[in-house]
Amino acid sequence: MNAPFLPAPTLLDTARRMVPRYTSYPTAPHFSAKVDAGTYGGWLEKVRETGEAISLYLHVPFCRTICNYCGCTTKAALRDDPVRAYAAVIHDEIALLADRLGPVAVSHIHWGGGTPNILPPDCFAAIVQDLQDRFRFRPDMEHAIELDPRHVTAEGARRLAALGINRASLGVQTLDPAVQKAIARIQPLPVVEASFAALREAGITAINADLMYGLPLQNLDVIRDTTERVVELRPSRFAIFGYAHVPWMKSHQRLIDEATLPDAEARIRQAALAREILEDSGYVEIGIDHFALPDDPLTAAQNEGRLHRNFQGYTDDAATTLIGIGASSISKTPWGFVQNAPDNHGWRRAIESGRLPTARGKAYEGDDRLRADVIEELLCRFEVSLTEVAARHGETLEAFSEDIRRLAPLERAGWVATEGGRVRILRHRHEIARVVASEFDAYLGRGGRHSAAV
Ligand SMILES: C[S@@+](CC[C@H](N)C(=O)[O-])C[C@H]1O[C@@H](n2cnc3c(N)ncnc32)[C@H](O)[C@@H]1O
Ligand code: SF4
Repeated sequence: MNAPFLPAPTLLDTARRMVPRYTSYPTAPHFSAKVDAGTYGGWLEKVRETGEAISLYLHVPFCRTICNYCGCTTKAALRDDPVRAYAAVIHDEIALLADRLGPVAVSHIHWGGGTPNILPPDCFAAIVQDLQDRFRFRPDMEHAIELDPRHVTAEGARRLAALGINRASLGVQTLDPAVQKAIARIQPLPVVEASFAALREAGITAINADLMYGLPLQNLDVIRDTTERVVELRPSRFAIFGYAHVPWMKSHQRLIDEATLPDAEARIRQAALAREILEDSGYVEIGIDHFALPDDPLTAAQNEGRLHRNFQGYTDDAATTLIGIGASSISKTPWGFVQNAPDNHGWRRAIESGRLPTARGKAYEGDDRLRADVIEELLCRFEVSLTEVAARHGETLEAFSEDIRRLAPLERAGWVATEGGRVRILRHRHEIARVVASEFDAYLGRGGRHSAAV
């Protein structure tokens, strides 16, 4: 490609670019109140007509204490009362959804948060029972949960397994005592080891570990030490998240001393070191921030071109409908996205008055689906045939002429190859995949503040 008027960017400037994570396209800042409960109700009824299996996401926005780095939608609950009250409303929301969806089949359930294992055991069991009564759980259903290792006990793990939980994700983040202090999350290695052991003894052997880089005071030694120690525990998957510092959205992140945050160059090195250790230890890179053992279903999905990206990251879940339950949760349907009221009060008020708690959303329009496909393929496979995606949508390569032009600087830098209607992110620069994807984002620059690309 010839575009001498556009200089090649530096890696540091590219890594600093503020771009979305693309767990959806269009991304959440472009959702609006034009999509309301009426729109969503119509979409749910159409889902029912398709007769296809759906996935469920249940959001539990409570934690015992808030970690300084946390970017999730959650709040502190020292007592169980607010959590119990929340669980009661979840049942009402399930009833509203079931009225519209009917006894649809469910292929995946994912509990996220916050800390879902904060739910008192009777509340958790009652919600699972309610879902089972109203929907049809597939026999091979994946039933996953995000767990805070500090709250995993042998008995708790057995209870989860008895309810059908067959996959768990543990938030490890870092094992370094100084970093743990800086992020207000004290969690020594024996706590993490005990949580792995408890899950495995209960029969939950599909375990993911979340690690983070770019945290305050983190350096290469810390990354090496944590990664190597957690590799010894042999989780089947890892997620390695770069700390997203967004204090304008998450005010508690102001508790982090910005002077102690690794700069863009250090973040690139930290991500690269974690990746090197994991690959040397037999893990396969899955998309931009996940790794899995060769015999993990995610690796098979990647090899067979069945990998998808959704709000929980990477998945082999092929369902085209993902229904979010709980305050702030986002749902995806074949016609667009909706988000529930983000605050617990607004969410509860809507449900108590018999309405779906939809706050905003985005119906696909124009070339949204075309671009969503390109972005998902880039983030799942690091390459995309624009010609093939265009053909699937009744278009030609012409539809992307502007986008290809915008890729010129990245190509001149030697990070991206575009030839024969195909875009490929070169292996040594997979970390800039979000930047490449952003060149296909027709909404970028029209609102929303994001986090650094690496
Ligand atoms: C809902 S939490 C996991 C469950 C549980 N609450 C815990 O912390 O152990 C999901 C994951 O998001 C990641 N995370 C949280 N805040 C983040 C941020 N600001 N930037 C990047 N990743 C973040 C962490 O790795 C965390 O484990
Ligand atoms: S990282 Fe997990 S435990 Fe910490 S505040 Fe966020 S959701 Fe809660």
